[in-house]
Amino acid sequence: MNVHTNIPLKNYLTMKLGGSARFMTDVSTADELAAACRNAKSQNLPFFVLGGGSNVIATDNGFNGLVIRNRIPGFDVLEDTASGAIIKIGAGEDWDETVAKTVQMGLSGIEAMSAIPGTVGAAPVQNIGAYGQELAETFVSLEAYDSETDQFVILENADCGFSYRHSIFRGEQSGRYAICSVTLKLFKSPPQPPFYEAVERYFNEHGITLFTAANVRDAVIAIRSEKLPDPSERPNTGSFFKNAIIDDWQLTELQKNWPDIPYYELDGKQVKIPTGWLIEQVGLKGQLLHGMRVHDKNALVLINESAASYSDLAAARDEIMAKVRDTFRITIEQEPLQV
Ligand code: EPU
Repeated sequence: MNVHTNIPLKNYLTMKLGGSARFMTDVSTADELAAACRNAKSQNLPFFVLGGGSNVIATDNGFNGLVIRNRIPGFDVLEDTASGAIIKIGAGEDWDETVAKTVQMGLSGIEAMSAIPGTVGAAPVQNIGAYGQELAETFVSLEAYDSETDQFVILENADCGFSYRHSIFRGEQSGRYAICSVTLKLFKSPPQPPFYEAVERYFNEHGITLFTAANVRDAVIAIRSEKLPDPSERPNTGSFFKNAIIDDWQLTELQKNWPDIPYYELDGKQVKIPTGWLIEQVGLKGQLLHGMRVHDKNALVLINESAASYSDLAAARDEIMAKVRDTFRITIEQEPLQV
């Protein structure tokens, strides 16, 4: 195992901020991943598995432990039937390349999650979602190294505690499992309307009436490139905040002052409010706060334009959260993981 010391995390995180990892290593097999975790444990150090670094931010203190860069490859079709396919993918594979492959195979189920930066192993951690699809809908199981029992385990969908942008891997079991592979169940039937509003609009504008996974993928790539800044050009982590989930009675209260507040029904008792709208209403869209730009095309995204350190990002984040809280009495939550 080749372990490097004192590595600046900002070189590995798309936000381009944060201190150093005390140790860092790359792994490309499940056994190497387990060995790296054991190594950290034997020195009483925590480990943190990093994928593409596109949904993680580091504080200026960095990480006093072992950062493991997961490079485990693999794309195996386990089952291929008339209705669909079950595919096992190595955690280190690039997510979007994986989506592209499945779309080329004529499979649907993850095409609306095209162009999300990051790796396959990171996808279940935050239960990625976009344009009407969520990983949990096609997720069958994953293989992981369990650092608590020193064994490889298979966790089924129900074991992972998926909810909106959440799972046990960033919640109650954070730091326990290192994901080796992810198994998905995809379909041969084409995607069915109604599609997410922006996708419907794109289809209408482009006169597209044939709904295929490839057409949805093209639409999503076009929409994302218009609305979301490319992290390789403008450092960011996609949505910096989660959309807000509030109770129906809170919505009724808010509607008295903001009759046009957008919302999505959840389960009859709660609604999801687009946090981008909340940030826009408090006048911060397009503003520069402590070197962080609130994206002018989607206020949910923060771009590191000239922040000197994590503390600048934290100051900008806290200011945004405070303004939203003061105006709407809603406490919004940070979306990227923090090491
Ligand atoms: N809106 C505004 N102002 C803004 C941004 C959004 O008013 O500045 C309102 C509009 O009403 C719009 C609604 O918010 O109709 C929803 O906006 P959009 O469709 O752009 O999606 P989002 O809520 O901003 C979420 C995900 C994205 C995902 C898109 C599309 C989260 C935290 N974000 O964003 O995911 O791509 O939906 O499905 O759920 C990510 O997680 O990093 C991410 C980019």
